[in-house]
Amino acid sequence: MYSICRINTQRGASRLLLRFQSTDAKEVLTIGGKNFKTHPEYTNVTPSIINHVGKSLHVKPNHPVNILRDLIEKKLSSVDNAFTTYNKFDPVVSTFQNFDSLGFPADHPGRSKSDTYYVNDKTLLRTHTSAHEMECYSKVGETGKPGFLISADVYRRDEIDKTHYPVFHQMEGCRVWNGRSIPQIKADLKVLQKKLDEHEMNLVVEDESLSNPPDVNPKQSYMTDEEVDLVSQHLKRSLELVISEVFTQRIKSMRAENPNADIPTELKFRWVNAYFPWTAPSWEIEVWWNNDWLEICGCGIVQQQVLLNAGYKENSAISWAFGLGLDRIAMLLFEIPDIRLLWSEDPRFISQFKDGHINTFKPYSKYPGSTRDVAFWLPDETKENPEVHENDIMEIVRDSAGSLVESVKLVDRFTNPKTNKKSLCYRIHYQSMDRNITNDEVNKIQKQVETRLVDKYNVTLR
Ligand code: PHE
Repeated sequence: MYSICRINTQRGASRLLLRFQSTDAKEVLTIGGKNFKTHPEYTNVTPSIINHVGKSLHVKPNHPVNILRDLIEKKLSSVDNAFTTYNKFDPVVSTFQNFDSLGFPADHPGRSKSDTYYVNDKTLLRTHTSAHEMECYSKVGETGKPGFLISADVYRRDEIDKTHYPVFHQMEGCRVWNGRSIPQIKADLKVLQKKLDEHEMNLVVEDESLSNPPDVNPKQSYMTDEEVDLVSQHLKRSLELVISEVFTQRIKSMRAENPNADIPTELKFRWVNAYFPWTAPSWEIEVWWNNDWLEICGCGIVQQQVLLNAGYKENSAISWAFGLGLDRIAMLLFEIPDIRLLWSEDPRFISQFKDGHINTFKPYSKYPGSTRDVAFWLPDETKENPEVHENDIMEIVRDSAGSLVESVKLVDRFTNPKTNKKSLCYRIHYQSMDRNITNDEVNKIQKQVETRLVDKYNVTLR
């Protein structure tokens, strides 16, 4: 992603403080019916984001994200009924849950205010479902099931386009072998392999990680090679099973809708080495779809520290974990062209889907859109005028336009050779999924975007 430069949090904070207090500052924020104290330097969650809390698309009947979640849960549970499901966790979590319990280093970019929505200095909107791993690991004994699945809405400050939205949904999956019994892992793997063998599609799997073991996060020293080999096979086969199920469903619906279409006859997967602070080794799985490798999911063998944090005894357990983004897979599966449609309240959207079924979304007439450019000179960087991150500009547009913004793109960047002053031009496309928007309305929003840019970042409009 392009970024102008990282915001310097210290200087950025004091500046936001000055400007926020006169206008938007509130001492207390209500999120999901609960009150939270704000923090002058940390709070950056906006009303338009708070409005998404509680929509819970992942459990909304007949919604594509819900249909996909259900499909994956059922497939995984069909193997050996090993998973407890948690789908109702609150999105407001502590920095400890989201980062520290998972061993995120203090300077990890995920912690920065340009990437994360903070409620106050110790509380934030979870950026991933891994925030609940520790808690769920500590409940494994009670539930009697060695695994769990957590689905939830997650929040990240990001760019604005057809595939990015600041709120999306993830499913976390974890499986633990308390006691580290090799015969047990082998038995579980056998059951899983049988299920995979029954699968109707031909699977082609490339695994570069086998010949090129990850060096940034090698196996943890308390584990044996055999254990790591077996547990990583269990993890990889579980994900291959789930992903082939999802794409096979898609292929079936393609065939039913148009038998003459260019329909894939096999599914191709590839495993690549990856890095996550709380898993070692770690991988990502990609699937070949529409002539491209598509990143589906990050995963790995959980760092012992997470298990110790959850109350396990030293060297007593081994576990895998994965985290899968539901929205983009749902978009592929149902051929939904714009991520904002997932949030649409238009009956023409939701009436097209039915729990348990995968069908191709039929586009309906779009409401007309409208484009505006905003061009401005950045101020010289000084103490009062800190660097501006692109996500800060995105946030101003989101907060002013809400769901009426389709995309924001940098279309021009220019430095005056004489003065060395930098100018940027962003093109904002406004369009509603649910109704007509008037020119007047767009002009008002555009004006607000401009005013806020000037107020917050001291830019000079061109
Ligand atoms: N939480 C990670 C993400 O959001 C995914 C992940 C989950 C990776 C579990 C490893 C283990 O990208």
